This record gives sequence, structure tokens and C-alpha cells, in this order.
Amino acid sequence: MESDNIIRMDMGGTQNHNNNSDKATLCLGIESSCDETSAAIVDSDKNILAHIIYSQIPEHQKYGGVVPELAARAHILAVDEVIKLTLERANKTIDDIDVIAATAGPGLIGGVLIGWMAATGIANATNKPLVAVNHLEGHALVPRLSAASASDSKTNIDVEFPYLLMLASGGHCQILLVHNVGKYELIGQTLDDSAGEAFDKIAKMLNLGYPGGPIVDNRAKLGDAKRFHFPRPLCDKPGCDFSFSGIKTAARMMLDKTSESDINEQFINDFCASFQAAVVDCITNRLHNALKDERVKVAQPKTMVVAGGVAKNSAIRAAMENLAKQSNMLFAAPPMSLCTDNGAMIAWAGLENYKIGKVVKEPIAPRPRWSLTEL
Ligand code: KG4
Ligand code: ZN
Repeated sequence: MESDNIIRMDMGGTQNHNNNSDKATLCLGIESSCDETSAAIVDSDKNILAHIIYSQIPEHQKYGGVVPELAARAHILAVDEVIKLTLERANKTIDDIDVIAATAGPGLIGGVLIGWMAATGIANATNKPLVAVNHLEGHALVPRLSAASASDSKTNIDVEFPYLLMLASGGHCQILLVHNVGKYELIGQTLDDSAGEAFDKIAKMLNLGYPGGPIVDNRAKLGDAKRFHFPRPLCDKPGCDFSFSGIKTAARMMLDKTSESDINEQFINDFCASFQAAVVDCITNRLHNALKDERVKVAQPKTMVVAGGVAKNSAIRAAMENLAKQSNMLFAAPPMSLCTDNGAMIAWAGLENYKIGKVVKEPIAPRPRWSLTEL
């Protein structure tokens, strides 16, 4: 792996909020569960000292999705250098680090194993505490490292427990009550595809490339959301579960009925805008129901939060902020750079778990499946 290649993916560090103490705890976090090899050094005062993300997207693009074997091979080639560069960029040596954290699942097991073994090796060799981070908990807790509202991205919001979380990524779509670190209550979830998967599949049908979310999002900004009618599955039903496969089937049927010569730029933009509007409606409808759920009423979360790769979507952010306002709640989303998979969220979740003593005491096996409610 050429280091030049990695440096181009570098997001740099951010001196974020506080400089509370000389004794801030430093955590090295490693993420490798899908198609990003990433490491970051984050401190307990919410500063990101360095953050390197090596994205494998170009390697998977020609296959229209992530190929697990290729991903695992790319993680092996990248992981050592990503960690080394992160330490260099933070101007730290491994001796300066207090805690090592890595994703131990859920995800593509080949990739998870590589990051996890690297972290275990470092922790064992240096005799430092090791935290096994649930990848979803990384997404769920990162808004506590850094978050803002949709309309004002500059003012940081301190996200306090409990909060109502819309977790939408390539692999998951769930509404959760986040009571505390390790304490998640599932309010609703998808019965079939995740929201990210729906974006990716629509983009694939239109030959727009991978990953589809950001492409469809950009196209939607140029399109007419009223031109095509997509279904809003389950929206006429009570409850907080999602279903996106019907939207996908409707898209397939509409495209099959359209002659290729009619699929011009405007068609694609309008199609993306109409599809995205359906997803936004599903998310707000389900969240609306979640706010009426007895468990949510009892917990009285002050903040509505979105996280995961799909949280990058500006229409979803705006709609959720609106709903939060109507419900007298705050709205918070991580900065764009901390929505898709990244090492900083793993380092932060590592710190939050370390603080409550959740460190690895004996060897553990990484898990391809690992629900937040099992923590
Ligand atoms: O959280 P993430 O990086 O990986 C998983 O843990 O799955 O999420 C990746 C997903 C992909 O499906 C991608 O298409 C979607 O997030 N995504 C978006 C946007 N940016 C990324 N979806 C909608 N709008 C976006 N702007
Ligand atoms: Zn993720």
C-alpha cells in the first residue's frame, strides 16, 4: 500500500472543544468492518488528534458493491500503514496512547478480524487496555463526540443521554432509545433492506455507480420529487418498523416500463428526487410514531439524533430537524466526515466504554452479527 494513496484520504485532525486537563485519556481506534480501513487518535476532551481513512471504494466500484474477499485483502495491506500514519500525524508514539479500541463486529468478518488482530497485537505487546467496540455503537455514540443541527452546522450540540436515535447505514436501519453506553432499546427496525441499501440499489438500477447514497442525494437536489410516485411502505400502519423493498420493486417496475431513450439526465434527477422523498417520508412517519411510543414517552429524550452513512443525506437531516422542532426537541447530527465509517467513532466509543470499565479481560472472537441490544 502506497502511503501517498493513504495520505490523500486523510481527513486531518480537529482540535474540537475542550482542553480541560493535562490528563485527557488518549485512545487509538481502528475500524475495518466494511470498505474503509481507518484509524484515529481521540482524547477524552473530545479532540480528534489525527484521523486517517483509507477508502477502498475505487477497488469495489467496478463490481457495483463491496466484495468481501477483496476488502479483506485491502485491509491487510493498509492496516499497519494507516495506524503508523495516524500516530505520526498526531505526533505521538504508541507509548503515549492509554487505550486501544477496534471494531469487533458486526461487519464483514474478514475485515473485522484484520483490524481486531492488529489492535489485539498492539494491546498485548504494550500491555495497554483493549476495548472491543460494536461498530453500531461507534455510529450511535459519535454524536456525543461532535454534532450540530442541520441548519447551523457550526454550533456544537452536547448530546446527553437519553436520546432518540435514527441509525441508518448501509447494513442497518433502526430507531433506538439510547439510554447510556451499552444500553440500547430497540423501538423499530427494517423488516427487509436498510435505507442505505435502498439508495445503493436505486443507483445501481440507474447505472449511477457505487456507493449510491451520495450520488442519488446530489441528483435529487436537481430533480422534481413529484414527478414519480413511489410507495411509502408501512406508513399507513402503526408502529416504527421500516420496509424499503417495496420502493425498490416499484422502481424496477417503473424503469422496466420506460424506454431507454426516455432515461435522460432530467429523468434520472426526477427519479432520484421522487425516490428520496419516499425514503424521507418513511423516516419521518416512523419517527413520528416513535415519539408516541410509551417507552419513548417514559424516557423523555431531549434530543433526536441521526447517525450512520445515510445521516449524510441533507433532505433527511432537514426533515428530521423539522420534526424535532415540532416536537420541542433538539436535533443533532455528526459532521459529514463522522457519518460514514471512520476510526474516530471507534476511538470515541472505545473511550466511553473504557470510562465505565468495559475492557477486554480475556480473548474474544469477533462477531459478524452483533446487535446493540446484546451489549
Ligand atoms: O455507515 P456506513 O458508512 O456503512 C455501514 O456501516 O453500512 O454507510 C454507508 C451507506 C451506503 O449505503 C451509502 O450509500 C450511504 O451510507 N450514504 C448515503 C449518503 N452518503 C452515504 N445515503 C444517502 N445519502 C447520502 N448522502
Ligand atoms: Zn457503519
